[in-house]
Amino acid sequence: MVYMEKNTPQCESAHFIKTPYLEVRLDKIRDAYARLSKNFIGIEIYYAMKCNPNPEIMRTVFECGGQFEISSAVEMKKAILVGAEPKNILFSNPVKTLDDIKSAHRAGVECFAFDSYSEVDKLAEGAPGAKVYVRISIPVRKSVVASEGKFGVAIDYARELMHYARKMGLKPYGISFHVGSQMLDPESWSYAIQHSAKLISMLKRDHIHVELLDIGGGFPVCYKDVSRDNIDKISGKIIKALTKYIHGDVRIVAEPGRYLVADSGVMVSTIIGTAERFGRKWLHLDVGANNGLMEAVQTSNALEYPVFDSKKSDEKDIFVLTGPTCDSQDTIMFDVPVSADIQIGDKIYFEYAGAYTTAMSENFNGFPSPKTYVVDKKKD
Ligand SMILES: Cc1ncc(COP(=O)(O)O)c(C=O)c1O
Repeated sequence: MVYMEKNTPQCESAHFIKTPYLEVRLDKIRDAYARLSKNFIGIEIYYAMKCNPNPEIMRTVFECGGQFEISSAVEMKKAILVGAEPKNILFSNPVKTLDDIKSAHRAGVECFAFDSYSEVDKLAEGAPGAKVYVRISIPVRKSVVASEGKFGVAIDYARELMHYARKMGLKPYGISFHVGSQMLDPESWSYAIQHSAKLISMLKRDHIHVELLDIGGGFPVCYKDVSRDNIDKISGKIIKALTKYIHGDVRIVAEPGRYLVADSGVMVSTIIGTAERFGRKWLHLDVGANNGLMEAVQTSNALEYPVFDSKKSDEKDIFVLTGPTCDSQDTIMFDVPVSADIQIGDKIYFEYAGAYTTAMSENFNGFPSPKTYVVDKKKD
C-alpha cells in the first residue's frame, strides 16, 4: 500500500480491498499522543486499550511512552505481549472475576480499582497486599457517550471502603474517577478533582496517604461540531485544578482511549442497497451499528462521524445511513448529505472511527466484522 498525500485517506485508492474495513494511520496516533502529553505536563498516560486493542496500535502508544489500563486478564496478556511490564499496568475495572484478579496478581500486576466491599474481599483473596484505588462517582454532567453512572461511590462511602481495604491487608493507594466518554464540558474534570481532594483530606486525617489520583479518560475528539482546541481548554482546566487542589506527593495518571486513536481510523464501507421509504432516502451499507459502529446505537445516533463518499459530487442529497442486518437498531446516522448520484457499489467513509468500533463489533445476522489495515507514514 502506498501512502498518498497527507490527510488523503489511502483507502480512497484501495479499491481492491474487501469492505468493510478500518484503515488506521499510526502517525496520527503519534500526533495525538504528542498533543496530549504536551498538554498533560506531569500526568502519566495509560492507554484505555478497550477502545482499540489492535497490537500495532498498542505498540505505537507504548513506543510513545504510554502504559496500559486494562479491564480483564485477556487485555493484560495483550499488553504484556507488546512489552508492558505488569507492574506498570493499571487494572481499572472496578469489578473483576476472582480468576482474573489471581492471574493478574501472579503475572505481577500491582494496582487494582474497586468500589465495593465484595471486591475488597476478592482482592484480599486473589491479590493479597495489592495496591488498590477506589473509584468515586461525580455528579453527572452529561457526556456524549454516557459511561458514567455504573461505577463509583460517594466519597464518604469511598472512605469506608479504603478503611476496609486496609483492614483486609491491602494497601489503600489511590482514587480514580471517569467523567464519561467524549466529555465536552471542561469543568467536569475540575469538579471531580476538587471532589477527590476532599477525599484525600478525609483519608489523611485517618492516616491513609493517597499516592495516586487517576483522572480517567473521556477526552473528546472532533466528531461533527466539536472544535479541535477543546483539548487545550480541558487540559488547562485540569492542570489548574490539580495545582489548586492536589498537594504533596501524589502521582497523577490519565486513561485516554478515544482521544489517542479515534482520529487515526477511517471506516470504509460499500453501499449494498438503496431504497426510498415514505419520502426518505436510505443507503444500506455493509457496515452498521452491529458490526463496527455500535456507538451509534449506544448514543441513540447522537454521535456523528464526519462522512464522505467516493462519488464526491457537488450536488448532495440527504440520506439515512443504515447497516446490513435485518435489525432496525442497525442505523448509523440520519439526515447525512451524500453525493446525490450515489449508487450501489460506491463507498462511504466514516472518519474518526478508530475508537470503540472494531473492538465492539459482532457478527449479528452473519455479517463480518471489519478487518483492520494499519498504515504508517514512517514506513512508506
Ligand atoms: C475506567 C475507564 N478509564 C478510561 C476510559 C476511556 O475513556 P475514553 O475512551 O473516553 O477516553 C474508560 C472508558 O469507558 C473507562 O471506563
